[in-house]
Amino acid sequence: MILTDLTHTPKDPLAILSTDMEKVDVCITEQLASKIPLVGQVSQYIISAGGKRLRPALLLLTSGALGYQNPLRYDMAAVVEFIHTATLLHDDVVDESTLRRGKATANETFGNPASVLVGDFLYSRAFQMMVKADDMKIMQILSDATNVIAEGEVLQLMNMHDASLTEQDYLTVIRSKTAKLFEASARLGAVLAKNPDAEIACATYGQALGTAFQVIDDILDYAGDAEVLGKNLGDDLREGKVTLPLIAAMQRGTPAQTELIKNAIENGSIEQLAEVVSIVRSTGALDVTHQYAALEAQRAIDAAQTLPNNSFTESLIMLGSQLLQRKY
Ligand code: IPE
Ligand code: IPE
Ligand code: MG
Ligand code: MG
Repeated sequence: MILTDLTHTPKDPLAILSTDMEKVDVCITEQLASKIPLVGQVSQYIISAGGKRLRPALLLLTSGALGYQNPLRYDMAAVVEFIHTATLLHDDVVDESTLRRGKATANETFGNPASVLVGDFLYSRAFQMMVKADDMKIMQILSDATNVIAEGEVLQLMNMHDASLTEQDYLTVIRSKTAKLFEASARLGAVLAKNPDAEIACATYGQALGTAFQVIDDILDYAGDAEVLGKNLGDDLREGKVTLPLIAAMQRGTPAQTELIKNAIENGSIEQLAEVVSIVRSTGALDVTHQYAALEAQRAIDAAQTLPNNSFTESLIMLGSQLLQRKY
């Protein structure tokens, strides 16, 4: 008999959602319908490339943890994925990115105007779908989140090429551009389940997980594998985007190393990427950045632990602990 060692194969925290996620995907496909062919082409292009579907997963896991069973959850899960996808279409234009989900970005394939306009289509379709829920609280949470994401992206744009940014400045940006939608998605589970007592725990879970998620993303931009990640490395430095690995490296480097990074940020020069990467590594900046993500992931786990003890909550906790190992 062959005994398989399962101890090193971590359980998939999203396995519990496999049938639910199929329903979300059906809803996504139905809602992409438009009489304008280019709308369907661009939106299908990015959505069919996959993606982790993490934000719908958070909504389904928190609503599941709180015993909510209504099919409206599939529509709301599709809504948060649409909002996310719209931000990606716009973000790749702003960041001049060429690779997303292992494929040429939509802006690379269809051009900037089509990407921006189809992003607008997805945002507005999300709002049409939300109206169906006929719940002002849901409208409020999602309209606020969408607005805060936009502010976060604009704030980040203003911060480009500024080597004097602090950890707090960085945190303000990522809380807005990334963590806010995680927070809204997780919180919606409690709102749908009409469980106000669990709302803070769900929102805290989403905010902390989203923060850790973006911190890890910013590590991967220096230390990931483009093939696995499905995105190019070095994009952040090229645009002069100051993320935690750079801030930590400037705090820990010699004056010459700090000066080199400062120059690279101010000029957004990819030519110095190899040198910057080696400084980021040798100063231990990646380790401290990772430790920061670990603290946020723990904050997420602590919040999930206050939810009812069931297999959905278990998955939320698992997600928190596996996030730190993510490679894509
Ligand atoms: C990408 O988000 C944008 C960030 C917040 C870093 P994801 O990594 O969740 O993107 P997909 O949906 O899986 O492609
Ligand atoms: C992602 O920011 C946040 C949003 C899309 C709103 P990034 O620019 O860091 O994400 P990637 O690296 O392009 O996925
Ligand atoms: Mg980007
Ligand atoms: Mg990034």
